[in-house]
Amino acid sequence: MKNNYGGSHYSNSSFPTVRLRRLRRNAAIRGLLQETHLSVKDLICPIFIQEGIERSHVIESMPEIHRIPLSEIISEVQTIFDLGIRAIIVFGIPSYKDDNASSAFHKNGIVQVSCKLIRKHFGDKIAIITDVCLCQYTTHGHCGVVLNKKVDNDSSIISLARVAVSHAEAGADIVAPSAMMDGQIKSIREGLDKSGFTDTAIMGYSAKQASPLYEPFRDAANSSPEFGDRKTYQMPFTNAREAMREIEFDINEGADIIMIKPAIPYLDLIYQAKQNTNLPICAYSVSGEYALIRAAADEGWINENAVMTEFLLAIKRAGADMIITYQAKKMAKLLNE
Ligand code: PBG
Ligand code: ZN
Repeated sequence: MKNNYGGSHYSNSSFPTVRLRRLRRNAAIRGLLQETHLSVKDLICPIFIQEGIERSHVIESMPEIHRIPLSEIISEVQTIFDLGIRAIIVFGIPSYKDDNASSAFHKNGIVQVSCKLIRKHFGDKIAIITDVCLCQYTTHGHCGVVLNKKVDNDSSIISLARVAVSHAEAGADIVAPSAMMDGQIKSIREGLDKSGFTDTAIMGYSAKQASPLYEPFRDAANSSPEFGDRKTYQMPFTNAREAMREIEFDINEGADIIMIKPAIPYLDLIYQAKQNTNLPICAYSVSGEYALIRAAADEGWINENAVMTEFLLAIKRAGADMIITYQAKKMAKLLNE
């Protein structure tokens, strides 16, 4: 890197680095010099909506995050909207599960009904993203269809397309397949187009790592696999080039936005994706990342707001255009202060 400090024409006290440090004492100049910014418009707020409950329940491993009943969906979205956030991602927790995940694509399923209500009440004022997967809806808890004790890729991507079309019918703007099945983006794109939903966008969970950081989510969504694990379809977290290949596949299959998940341990992947593609990049800061911060904050060992701000800005600095975070509401409040 070129170094302009080596010349003898600087006296010690006029080194540009030294001057910058002095200038930064002035908040106005600090603002000018800040390279990375975070806005409420960058944030996507997750919502867990559960079928068949009367009141909301706090998720034990995710303090302050709730599973809410349908009757609270409008007030929850209103709260999010009033904070200036303009995007939500909806996760459904159904009361009925079976082997082929039929409640995932039922037209009166929990996500479908939620989308219809939100759309009716908010029109186009808030972007609705839906998580498209089977794990919450199957008795075995895997993200795809299981045949002979194995996740069957080809029948899974047909089901995933059905789920996506049912979400689009209910008013979702963006469907986000998280099952990590091969060809899921292509299958969903074809399904949407055939049903006339050519404007519904796809956010691919492209580089989704097989991470222990999803544990609190599985608590929340009651979606742990009954046997085996997700390592056959989620990514080995040691492989950055393979992650870039997964992203490439998703782009070639028609993804409109790509996602990297989790966020904080994978800033290098976000950075690399930014160099390799011009598509918008979403980072998903997952349940375990939230739980780590919350647990330490609850012990009084760290300052939650400060750590949250540092982590979210670091995710943006790495190259994320948007961030899914369980701290969306809290961060929005802080940004609005
Ligand atoms: C469903 C899904 C998961 C997450 C998002 N969608 C869980 C999983 O793959 O086991 C994880 C989100 C989080 O941990 O916050 N496939
Ligand atoms: Zn899944």
